[in-house]
Amino acid sequence: MGPVTGKQRKKVTIATLRSLYAKNEPIAMITAHDFPSALVADNSGIDVVLVGDSLAMVALGMEDTSEVLVEEMLLHCRSVARATKAAFTVGDLPMGSYEIGPEQGLETAIRFIKQGRVQAVKLEGGREMAPTINKITSAGIPVLAHVGLTPQRQNALGGFKVQGKTAGGALHILEDAMAVQDAGAFAVVLEAVPAEIARIVTEKLSIPTIGIGAGNTCSGQVLVQVDMTGNFPPGRFLPKFVRQYGNVWSEAQQAVEAYRADVKSRAYPAPEHTYPMPQEELDMFANAVEQSPHLQRRKL
Ligand code: KIV
Repeated sequence: MGPVTGKQRKKVTIATLRSLYAKNEPIAMITAHDFPSALVADNSGIDVVLVGDSLAMVALGMEDTSEVLVEEMLLHCRSVARATKAAFTVGDLPMGSYEIGPEQGLETAIRFIKQGRVQAVKLEGGREMAPTINKITSAGIPVLAHVGLTPQRQNALGGFKVQGKTAGGALHILEDAMAVQDAGAFAVVLEAVPAEIARIVTEKLSIPTIGIGAGNTCSGQVLVQVDMTGNFPPGRFLPKFVRQYGNVWSEAQQAVEAYRADVKSRAYPAPEHTYPMPQEELDMFANAVEQSPHLQRRKL
């Protein structure tokens, strides 16, 4: 897959994101899990591309995100990073790669920068992750925090449930968001929290909030690309907050079915899909075959 032609955008950096935030211009973020999905995101003017651990479920067919390994995330980060010439690229630290302590978090974050070729890392958790965020950012690696619904902890949360629906729960989310900000996170993802709570958290913070299922007052939005492009079979569960902007699955299915039918009927390949050769070479070849006993069809 070659490069996309057209005018190359300037590279989005932490400074660009700060400037968007200062201008109150929403930050557009989307996931990408491989080279083509990253190329389309980059070419569409997206500010931030996240190699989310949603990879586990939507691209690797795993049951949940807890199964995906650092090495698998790194392979996909590298593929994405080859395509994101302009978008700021963030790699998601998978479950088990940072919770043991700040040293483990920093070691994994360094691998994501050196081997994954991303510009920042994301990790899930609030105040309890502050020392880890502090350690990683002190080493010069930007951290995107993630509070509210944290899918890596779905077993403890009792599933993929909306968070912060009680006053106590909402206070907890605000305190978590403030703690990760104070620890040095450059922005924080707010997932599946009531829009009103996200609005107040956004007002109280001095770093951008990136909403997913958190209403439209956040400083930016993120969606899983596979979900919003409709690249999944009909009937699959889709979270309430997803707007489906396309139907890639149905396009792909139509194309593959048409190809299959053409193969079966020999309508494909047509003459324009074949490589011509000079007639005299073809005649010589046919003659040579005809006269060589060892080149005749054998019964197997
Ligand atoms: O893994 C992921 O894709 C994410 C986003 C949905 C925020 O964490």
